[in-house]
Amino acid sequence: MILLLLVPGIGGLAFLIWWLVFETEGVYLGRRVVVWLYDVYARRYDGIKENADEDERVYLAKPLMQRLRPHVDPLVLDVAAGTGRMALALCRHARFEGYVYGLDPSRRMLAVAAEKIAAAEYADSVTLLQGSAEQLPFERDLFDVVTCMEALEFMPQPADQLTELIRVLRPGGLLLTTLRINTRWMPGRVWDETTFRALLAARGMIQIELEMWQYDYMLVWAVKSGTAPFTGVRLPEELLSPALLRQCLPYPASA
Ligand SMILES: C[S@@+](CC[C@H](N)C(=O)[O-])C[C@H]1O[C@@H](n2cnc3c(N)ncnc32)[C@H](O)[C@@H]1O
Repeated sequence: MILLLLVPGIGGLAFLIWWLVFETEGVYLGRRVVVWLYDVYARRYDGIKENADEDERVYLAKPLMQRLRPHVDPLVLDVAAGTGRMALALCRHARFEGYVYGLDPSRRMLAVAAEKIAAAEYADSVTLLQGSAEQLPFERDLFDVVTCMEALEFMPQPADQLTELIRVLRPGGLLLTTLRINTRWMPGRVWDETTFRALLAARGMIQIELEMWQYDYMLVWAVKSGTAPFTGVRLPEELLSPALLRQCLPYPASA
């Protein structure tokens, strides 16, 4: 009798732990757990994702640079930079002459990014900063481009963090983010297409375009309404306070 109760109980508990820790990547256990998990998996992350450089060029860097024409030197903020995917995709683009700030709370994800960026000799075009999307350490209306890939659903209040991304984007600036799809069990974390369009529109975004990208993500492009002069390259010494400069990830000695 006890065994009859125990087996389903243990099974249910095991499923709950699996769902909370692995399936939803700790998102219902708080930001610290999410960041801890990314720290733990940082060295394995690229191997798990298997993103191909050519795909990053075709689906991310190339369309982004096309939308910026005639500019080639945007000031870019990549929130949830992870292992440096967006910075690398942009720096590899033949016409890119801009500057990328990559921000992520996981120090170990950033450490992997720093190694890859140094190895590719792009350290002069990228600064990596430990921080979270909840409060971006930048003035409003600043960046020509803000990107945030495969990450909103892991943040504490995704709709608020979306507002924060848009706050630091200059009027006329380009937002590139992702909408998670084909995920049934992430209540309160994912939106349908119509709701996401409405969220963006309510935050002053126009020219909203959603396109299929991967099995579990759509790419989302949008422009912040209004116009402001193109910002262009701003180096860290100009943009970051001395305290923030000290938080930037040092590139490996080989850089
Ligand atoms: C699935 S990874 C995506 C990384 C990268 N954008 C990419 O596309 O490869 C999610 C990233 O979100 C970051 N993240 C989690 N919570 C965050 C938060 N509150 N603010 C900013 N980034 C966060 C994690 O540390 C992790 O690097």
